[in-house]
Amino acid sequence: MSLIVGVAKETAPGERRVAVTPKAVELLSKLGAEVWLEKGAGYDSGFPDPEYDAKGVHWASNAAEVREKAQVLLCVRAVEPQGLDARHAVIGFCDPLSEPHRAALFAESGATLFSVELIPRITRAQSMDALSSMASISGYKAVILAAGALPRMFPLMMTAAGAIAATRVLILGAGVAGLQAIATARRLGAVVMGYDVRSAVKEQIESLGAKFLQITIEGSGEGEGGYARQLTEAQIRGQREQMGAALREMDVVITTAAVPGKKAPILLTKEMVRGMAPGSVVVDIAAERGGNCELTKPGETIVDHGVTIIGPVNIPSSVPYHASQMYARNLVAFLKNMVKDQQLHIDSNDEIVRDTLVTQGGRVVHPKVQALLGSVVNA
Ligand code: NAI
Repeated sequence: MSLIVGVAKETAPGERRVAVTPKAVELLSKLGAEVWLEKGAGYDSGFPDPEYDAKGVHWASNAAEVREKAQVLLCVRAVEPQGLDARHAVIGFCDPLSEPHRAALFAESGATLFSVELIPRITRAQSMDALSSMASISGYKAVILAAGALPRMFPLMMTAAGAIAATRVLILGAGVAGLQAIATARRLGAVVMGYDVRSAVKEQIESLGAKFLQITIEGSGEGEGGYARQLTEAQIRGQREQMGAALREMDVVITTAAVPGKKAPILLTKEMVRGMAPGSVVVDIAAERGGNCELTKPGETIVDHGVTIIGPVNIPSSVPYHASQMYARNLVAFLKNMVKDQQLHIDSNDEIVRDTLVTQGGRVVHPKVQALLGSVVNA
């Protein structure tokens, strides 16, 4: 019997992405899988039912029917284990390092849960890296949001009505999202500066035609696996003082700084924002993780002393067509790594499988999630 993959309509409020696109159905069929899809699941992302029909999908009239048929459930956001049991393997974003209790609920259901946030950043897993896919969308869209809110135009223009100066943009945090934001702002004609606590990104920032904002901090801000680590109080103070001066020159600031599993670092204090020119715009991509700007209100746009501060949440869902296209390709690659002879093989000797496996056999099996649950229980 072939592997049966199920996809239900997303249930998280405002979620417009779908885990499997018509193209992904085709790729899953090539793996020997049969795909069951809840009717209308792709509609909000721009993939209507007839496009899936053309790829030979099987239809379920509701989520319960998807669960009944399928062994592997692909989703964007694994929000609740309702109706799941030991037959099911769920693959999706479940944020187990921030929401370990949710992982515990999945364990209780008996289902196997894989968290795509935990996909290791190794070359072999690049095609599966859903965090990177979504981050590049967020970086792009943040610039578009800033351009929409700014009372200026981005490019330098020489017109009969006089010269228009180019907009000056500062991108704080030059990971995947930040680098995409730099590239997008450059394409729109802005003069761009980038900054990151990891000095290794200086060259990448410059190769995109932006300048590196030089800030000297004592010691290193680099942690494990290519990620940043949390800075000390003294490092943070030094960083803020030097950044304040640069901010006064900027029309747009896009903040993308994150430290995995931690609250986002505050890079822009109230005072720093109040030192910015009225009319300038801050887009805080880290809003969902508490924000890089002290004034950010997640999901809202506020104006403080003439500075607009946008705190978008779930940005990838606002570009649902391409976000779904990229995410679905990531999931197909992830699943392909575990499918042998049309069956799911969970081999915990494989680094990708081991790092992403959160629950199995009624238990939370991921050491980091176990530790978080343990520390909550013992607190
Ligand atoms: P992220 O979303 O965790 O963080 C975004 C950026 O914020 C990072 O560049 C980080 O250094 C920066 N940051 C953190 N604290 C900061 C602070 N206090 N001040 C200024 N900046 C701060 O990171 P992301 O984008 O998910 O990935 C980071 C890096 O991981 C990439 O740039 C790359 O080097 C590496 N990576 C490797 C991959 C692979 O080898 N397959 C795939 C994706 C990323």
